[in-house]
Amino acid sequence: MKPLTQLIKEKPAIGWILFLATVVVVFVLGLLASTIVERRAEAVFVYTPEVKHSQFEPRNEVWGQNFPREHQSFLQTEDTTFRSMFNGSATIDMLEVDPRLVVLWAGYSFSRDYDQARGHMHAIEDIRNILRTGAPMNGEGNMQPNTCWTCKGPDVPRLMNEIGVAEFYKGNWEDKGHEIVNPIGCADCHDAETMNLRISRPALIEAFERQGKDITRASHQEMRSLVCAQCHVEYYFNKKRYEGVQYLTFPWDNGHSVEAMEKYYDDMEFADWTHQLSRAPMLKAQHPGYEIYSTGVHASRGVSCADCHMPYMSEGGQKFTDHHIQSPLNNVHNSCQVCHREETEKLVNDVNERHKRVIESRDNLEKQIVSAHVEAKAAWDKGATNEQMNDILTGIRHAQWRWDYSAASHGASFHSPVETSRVIASGMDIIQDTRLKLARVLADLGHNEAIPYPDISTKAKAQVFIGLDMKKLKQEKQQFLDEIVPTWDKKATEREATYETTQL
Ligand code: HEC
Ligand code: HEC
Ligand code: HEC
Ligand code: HEC
Repeated sequence: MKPLTQLIKEKPAIGWILFLATVVVVFVLGLLASTIVERRAEAVFVYTPEVKHSQFEPRNEVWGQNFPREHQSFLQTEDTTFRSMFNGSATIDMLEVDPRLVVLWAGYSFSRDYDQARGHMHAIEDIRNILRTGAPMNGEGNMQPNTCWTCKGPDVPRLMNEIGVAEFYKGNWEDKGHEIVNPIGCADCHDAETMNLRISRPALIEAFERQGKDITRASHQEMRSLVCAQCHVEYYFNKKRYEGVQYLTFPWDNGHSVEAMEKYYDDMEFADWTHQLSRAPMLKAQHPGYEIYSTGVHASRGVSCADCHMPYMSEGGQKFTDHHIQSPLNNVHNSCQVCHREETEKLVNDVNERHKRVIESRDNLEKQIVSAHVEAKAAWDKGATNEQMNDILTGIRHAQWRWDYSAASHGASFHSPVETSRVIASGMDIIQDTRLKLARVLADLGHNEAIPYPDISTKAKAQVFIGLDMKKLKQEKQQFLDEIVPTWDKKATEREATYETTQL
């Protein structure tokens, strides 16, 4: 082969082609180098602290200066546009969807107002607006204790640190309205120094201790569920621990199952309220999400809440945890398809089929329990004695506890369909036995016909049936929102202006 210089001399075009090719290669290499540098710079930007704040800083936007990606995605929990077949982030009025609930909760505040959970950003707004917290005005004591604030946001660990845990729970709900103003956020789940996951709620730590377990020894993967178990659990308010304090307690001493918690409550003769129609001493299941999830196949394979509800995302070459906590059906690609190869449609269908089947038998259980309440009232009206009614009331209590346990956490029929169906079936067994006893008592009292099922086909009709004055409740609430809530926000803004942060 001839030397290059001689080739170029003979055909000058070759020289030009070589020259241009070199220019192109250099240009492309330059581009590549610059994007690498840019991404590096971005990565450094994300993890260089912009601001130093205290462990108990409640304002999510302050933490957000250091972690813009997590903060931006967290802000998306404000979105209310997604609806799946049964769940989602929209306001879903559950009493409208299912008016039987009004009768099941007659005599209890849930019969006034009960919406499906929305995103975390709405936690403060929703607890203020819901009719269950009433309209505390003019210094009258509210029916709810301060304990109700415990799962609403990062002002809770701050205030507990300032005044102590029991003192936090003490008093009526309106006392601390000006303190708890930031919705669920960073300080609820993270340590400010290390950004490690952190349990900020004493009730969970104490429940572990009573079972002889040390939560600080939980694995990293367990922590990815336990941060959620601070709030998405069954709980009650223990009035016996400190004078005048409704102390937040998880009823887990005998275990998590529906039977174990029922025994716990029965042994201490605890009741949330007395049913207005049947006079049964009732239990209200809160939202035993963690407990039911623990019995499912995903938990047994080590899949955590965060794996499905906070999947990893990638942006600008940076991997981070999506803090837009929501129904995973709005993000099947990141939530499920990291482990499952099926098409989105198939996976969504799997979820909805499980919901549908469980809800079908749950609805049947509900109808039976409504009938039992109405029949028990008829028995009392016809002069039944306590002795005749005792077993019947226990049956109603246990059946409704099972129904509520299966329904209240909204995800149970997917998280653990087999256990949820078992719980419903056991409730059905109890209520059928109870209604047989009721029929016998009614017959003894001289009544041998069926007690008619009430017309509760809409929420409004059901609320009239139990005698609720909804117009009055709504008017009072509006006045409270207009007059009291702005004073809470004003006080909070003044307090927050005194918090120390250092821009770095
Ligand atoms: C294997 C994935 C997976 C795991 C693990 C998981 N979930 Fe879910 N979760 C779902 C799906 C799917 C739904 C149903 C969503 C729907 O119907 O729109 C759901 C529903 C929910 C809902 C109701 C959502 C809504 O829109 O109202 C809550 C709350 C919830 N889960 C909390 C939890 C908690 C807390 C844990 C851990 C204790 C957990 N989940 C574990 C997949 C999961
Ligand atoms: C409900 C609990 C919860 C809340 C609230 C929360 N996080 Fe997280 N965060 C998590 C979990 C779970 C992870 C994953 C941690 C792991 O696996 O190590 C995480 C991870 C992180 C990480 C590590 C990097 C990453 O993206 O994986 C940062 C930084 C972070 N969160 C910042 C924030 C900020 C800022 C806020 C408030 C705007 C916040 N988090 C609110 C639960 C939470
Ligand atoms: C400090 C208490 C608290 C913690 C911690 C917490 N949650 Fe929640 N969560 C709530 C409350 C309260 C709501 C209802 C907010 C509303 O309706 O205004 C909620 C709502 C939800 C919803 C419904 C959102 C929607 O758009 O339908 C899901 C899903 C959920 N949480 C999952 C989780 C998961 C997963 C974790 C852990 C990574 C977690 N939560 C940690 C209190 C908490
Ligand atoms: C971290 C991995 C992981 C993630 C994320 C995950 N799964 Fe699974 N899933 C599993 C494993 C493991 C099993 C058990 C299958 C086995 O061992 O054969 C399972 C089982 C299932 C089953 C059959 C069990 C049953 O309940 O009947 C369904 C349906 C399912 N997953 C749907 C989903 C959906 C929908 C999502 C997203 C919301 C999801 N999974 C997210 C790992 C995962």
